Amino acid sequence: MATALLRRFAELAATPLVPDDYLDLFNPLRPGAELRGRIVSVHPETADAATLVIKPGADWAGHVPGQYVRIGVDVDGVRQWRAYSLTHGPRRDGHISITVKAVADGTVSPYLVHRSRPGTLVHLEQATGDFVLPDLDVDPPKFLFVTAGSGVTPVVGMLRNLFPVTESGVIDPKSRSAATNAAGLDITVVHVAPSEPDSIFGADLVALHAAGAINLVARYDDTHGVLDINRLVDLVPDLHERITYACGPGGLLDALAAHHEALGLPLHVEQFKISTVEPGAGGSVAFNSGVEVIADGATPILTAAESAGVLMPSGCRMGICFGCVLPMTDGAVRDLRNGAITTADAMSGPVKIQTCISAAAGPCRLDH
Ligand SMILES: Cc1cc2nc3c(=O)[nH]c(=O)nc-3n(C[C@H](O)[C@H](O)[C@H](O)COP(=O)(O)OP(=O)(O)OC[C@H]3O[C@@H](n4cnc5c(N)ncnc54)[C@H](O)[C@@H]3O)c2cc1C
Ligand code: FES
Repeated sequence: MATALLRRFAELAATPLVPDDYLDLFNPLRPGAELRGRIVSVHPETADAATLVIKPGADWAGHVPGQYVRIGVDVDGVRQWRAYSLTHGPRRDGHISITVKAVADGTVSPYLVHRSRPGTLVHLEQATGDFVLPDLDVDPPKFLFVTAGSGVTPVVGMLRNLFPVTESGVIDPKSRSAATNAAGLDITVVHVAPSEPDSIFGADLVALHAAGAINLVARYDDTHGVLDINRLVDLVPDLHERITYACGPGGLLDALAAHHEALGLPLHVEQFKISTVEPGAGGSVAFNSGVEVIADGATPILTAAESAGVLMPSGCRMGICFGCVLPMTDGAVRDLRNGAITTADAMSGPVKIQTCISAAAGPCRLDH
């Protein structure tokens, strides 16, 4: 901490200062500052997942459980932005929390899980997302939550907001007999994980089940085999009476969407990663700056360009927010979700493409 402050002084001594620089140095979380947060604590959840509790800047506008926040961190000198679901409802101490699972070859998630430390400043955006529960005041419906792997995070955020838990997220023992502050809610949670030790928030869900707050159906791949969505009704016999909220890998969500569509059942999903089709050939991506990046046909142009040090606009990184759109003036790209090819040339004029879900399909040029 002291070293970081000294380094910051040294950096500032070498550049012209404006008053905000001094204010940022002593109070980076002040009202009016660029929105940031300070990591307060890091708690391991499993061998490769951890919860980060963050004190957000004064201008944090709050969130609705189920929403996500975009976090910007500098990894090896490059600012990287990723989305993470908020894993608490609003807390009494005003802190927020995210729970990150380290992806094996990931850039940001291993950094957050294994290298982030209390005291570290991170960049934040305001919370967003529509994976939220409806108004529960009048005649609440019966719910089914289907969670797989790190997809449990937004659901835990919702559950912690509905039931009496402590700030650490476990069910409050003083409230066990009262069971819930959401009496009347009928919630079944189908929670899928590779194994019990790898189950993020498994213990919290078991505690909520034991207190009578939810009906938990835990499914571990190593014990029960991979969940066959077509047999979901065996696990949840009154499936037809429930509104389903699901979060997990693309394959499971695709299967659930097809299953629910066939039965005409309501479904809300939150997807962390897009499902992609077979990759195409790839090509070179040229930018106005003169930089040219060789990208394979499986990698989003956004990722390929960032890896080559190009500063790119981005948002959700999965085709939802349009925060990554850039004009393509020439060439062809392939939509990684469905294989559709988009082309641009002098005749068509610039065509806007989402770089987070588009791969090069031959040479192309972006106006950026
Ligand atoms: C709305 C939203 C909410 C999210 N909430 C959470 C959350 O609560 N907890 C959490 O851990 N993650 C969450 N994510 C995923 C998160 O934003 C990152 O995508 C993830 O942490 C990987 O980032 P990375 O930089 O480590 O990997 P990258 O460097 O971006 O990717 C490296 C490799 O990992 C693959 N990959 C990327 N994302 C995933 C993934 N989610 N699972 C498996 N492989 C992946 C890529 O295809 C690539 O091959 C959320 C994503 C979205 C869009
Ligand atoms: S970053 Fe959100 S659509 Fe591309």
